[in-house]
Amino acid sequence: MKVTPKDASAKLSSCDLLIVFGAEKKRLELPDGVELGAAAKKDFEGKARQTRLCDPTGGAAKRVLLVGLGAGTKWQVEDLRRATAVAIKHAEKLGVAKATLWVSGAVEKRAGGATEAGVAIGEALVMGAYTYDELKSKPAQKTLKGVDVLGSGREFSAALRRGKTIGEATCYTRDLANRPGNKMRPRDFASEARKIGRKGKRITTKVLTEKQMEELGMGSLLSVSTGSIEPAFLVHMTYKPKTKAKGKICFVGKGLSFDAGGISLKPSNGMEDMKFDMCGGGAVMGIFHALQSLDFPYEIHGVVPTSENMPAHNATKPGDVVTAMNGKTIEVINTDAEGRLILADALCYVSKKVKPDTIIDMATLTGAIIVALGHELTGMFPTTKSLSKELTAAGERTGELVWEMPLLDVHKEQLKGTYSDLRNINRGEGNGSTAGAAFLSHFVDESIEWAHLDIAGTAWKARNRDYTGGSTGTGVGVRLLLDYLNNKS
Ligand code: BES
Ligand code: ZN
Ligand code: ZN
Repeated sequence: MKVTPKDASAKLSSCDLLIVFGAEKKRLELPDGVELGAAAKKDFEGKARQTRLCDPTGGAAKRVLLVGLGAGTKWQVEDLRRATAVAIKHAEKLGVAKATLWVSGAVEKRAGGATEAGVAIGEALVMGAYTYDELKSKPAQKTLKGVDVLGSGREFSAALRRGKTIGEATCYTRDLANRPGNKMRPRDFASEARKIGRKGKRITTKVLTEKQMEELGMGSLLSVSTGSIEPAFLVHMTYKPKTKAKGKICFVGKGLSFDAGGISLKPSNGMEDMKFDMCGGGAVMGIFHALQSLDFPYEIHGVVPTSENMPAHNATKPGDVVTAMNGKTIEVINTDAEGRLILADALCYVSKKVKPDTIIDMATLTGAIIVALGHELTGMFPTTKSLSKELTAAGERTGELVWEMPLLDVHKEQLKGTYSDLRNINRGEGNGSTAGAAFLSHFVDESIEWAHLDIAGTAWKARNRDYTGGSTGTGVGVRLLLDYLNNKS
């Protein structure tokens, strides 16, 4: 979709559909010359997500769509994202080829300023129009090709473009997530990463093969792919800033292209959703998709260990002991706790070869995080107060909420092994998500600031919020971590 920023102070040129936001108990503002009949104004109360299509009695627009922002007591930027998505969906249904969205100064102010409003609108226009239909034999034709967005000036225009880039990166992650296991395999992660490396001027991509991983001693990661016909890969993308880097940040994502559970086979009911077990890796890819055109003053690394987890005669068996890259031995008690096994070696690799200041990993790691937090909050396990604050604030700004979870030494001790250094699950003490995080902590160099984000609840099946949510992939993590980077820059 084409999103074109235009100056709101210029005279409104003729258009098929003009979209205007209105808030509850606020006088409805319209662009100069546009007039609506008394009836239209009367039925439109500005309630959140309310729509009213009107035939104007004067002005350059053929039709006007009023969209409500609500009472505006809290979280006004989220109101704007939702209203924008409602507007774009409505415009699509009307069958117009182009729409014009008018953003008044009051609407910008309400969202927190021109930048906040621009980013939110850019994101929500793209995300609200998102559909996944690449596997339909006859995908629905889209008539709406573009939106002119009339805002206050240069700051708004730049933010709108930035929001569009971020929205497109999120939709790219959604595409990877929604793609089934037979179309989004470990080798597809590798080829997508190479594509990003070719297109992004500041990005280089390296892909480690199973042979190279074996040479590095990644026995933990390789124990997951052994039962699959699809070879595993470790994708490593690097972004170099224009100017001297302020620091080094590394994002790591679990890229399980399908998790059948291995020999500890999952029940068949709902197993198809385990194609989403690559959403952490998908989010890292989305961040790098955006880095093709955004500037940050950091050296940024993206590492995605990617594999399938299948049962087979040569699959890892419960009780097997494997050795990770840092020399620690692991008894695989449950082959379905495989995400932590591939992440263990990825985190060793990052600690040893990349040596970043900060690591943030994203993983659909545990079903237990859904029991704890449901589908609206990502579980966060940070090692520093400052990282916790930065991610919490980014969550509130983007609507990708995170909630801090505990990680104590006693949890790390639960993973001490009987036959080996570690076991991959605890002994039934409960605390499933904390145990997953605690296992990972054994593979991160203690001098590195680190946060683990368990996105098992938020990566799909989240509540419908117009621009996001529903049963399909949400692309969670992309907007969150781009906002985190932006706020740090
Ligand atoms: N990919 C799953 C976690 C998951 C489950 C994500 C449901 C989203 C929805 C992970 O690999 C897994 O199977 N974890 C096990 C761990 C257990 C064996 C300790 C789980 O959560 O049941
Ligand atoms: Zn599993
Ligand atoms: Zn898994």
